[in-house]
Amino acid sequence: MHKRTTLENGFEIIEIANAVAKAKIAPQGAHLYDYARRGETPLLWLSPTARFENGKAIRGGVPVCWPWFGKDRKHPERPQHGFARTAMWHLERIDEPDEGTTIVTLTLDHTQIEQPWFPYAFKATLTISVGRNLSVSLTTENRGDEAFEITEALHTYFTVGDIGNISIEGLENVTYADNLEGFKHKVSDAPITVAGEVDRVYLDTEATVVIRDDALERVVTVGKSDSRSTVVWNPWIDKAAAMADFADDGYQTMVCIETANALDNTVTIAPGASHTLTQTVS
Ligand code: BG6
Repeated sequence: MHKRTTLENGFEIIEIANAVAKAKIAPQGAHLYDYARRGETPLLWLSPTARFENGKAIRGGVPVCWPWFGKDRKHPERPQHGFARTAMWHLERIDEPDEGTTIVTLTLDHTQIEQPWFPYAFKATLTISVGRNLSVSLTTENRGDEAFEITEALHTYFTVGDIGNISIEGLENVTYADNLEGFKHKVSDAPITVAGEVDRVYLDTEATVVIRDDALERVVTVGKSDSRSTVVWNPWIDKAAAMADFADDGYQTMVCIETANALDNTVTIAPGASHTLTQTVS
């Protein structure tokens, strides 16, 4: 079952419900902002102060950072995390192959948006599969006659019971660029625990990441393919307070584990070729 609704301010949303799970998606940004298995605590974190407004990215869920991630170091004039997260995507189809699976496909191509930063013929397709597990795939096609480069992320905000009581496993001994120290490269052999601001891009890793959440008594597994980077982010107290759409105490119940190709893990796409980044959460 799915239902399309337009809020009073004109912002559109799609609500999905099937035998095993529920989800909510905004065509703006192809933004999945709620997913939960029936009877379980939501998997995705959404700020209670998130704004649902045309032109503004929703704070929570899975923002799509594309065709670049973060602040583009080669092109400082480009807006952080690309233009896809605030662009109006086209809802191409909703498939319900069985009673426990709903697959939503949204697309964005160069004819749908005017923007000055990425002068290429492209098509981006986001496929969201809502079932007992959640799978999100982002495909980039080069429809022009010259190669282009992208960086990208499925910037997933996960709900956690208590940030002081989780451990993130799978990135031990992986070199990361620390955004809090000018992307200085570092490495640690221990699972990640969060007791302050964390903003790291783990490089050259295709590892599955596990969030062990003692307070919610659950283990969330984040698998991926064709992704060479994993971003881990928690803004902690001061940065959370500085963001208008981020609840002041929200940092206590979220962590971002982002399936990405970022920094030096750039993807080059030849004319006529395509690339698909996938994240599967269970
Ligand atoms: C993370 C970045 O991916 O996104 C952080 O590593 C950034 O540096 C965060 O603060 C949120 O970005 P934004 O643009 O949604 O506020």
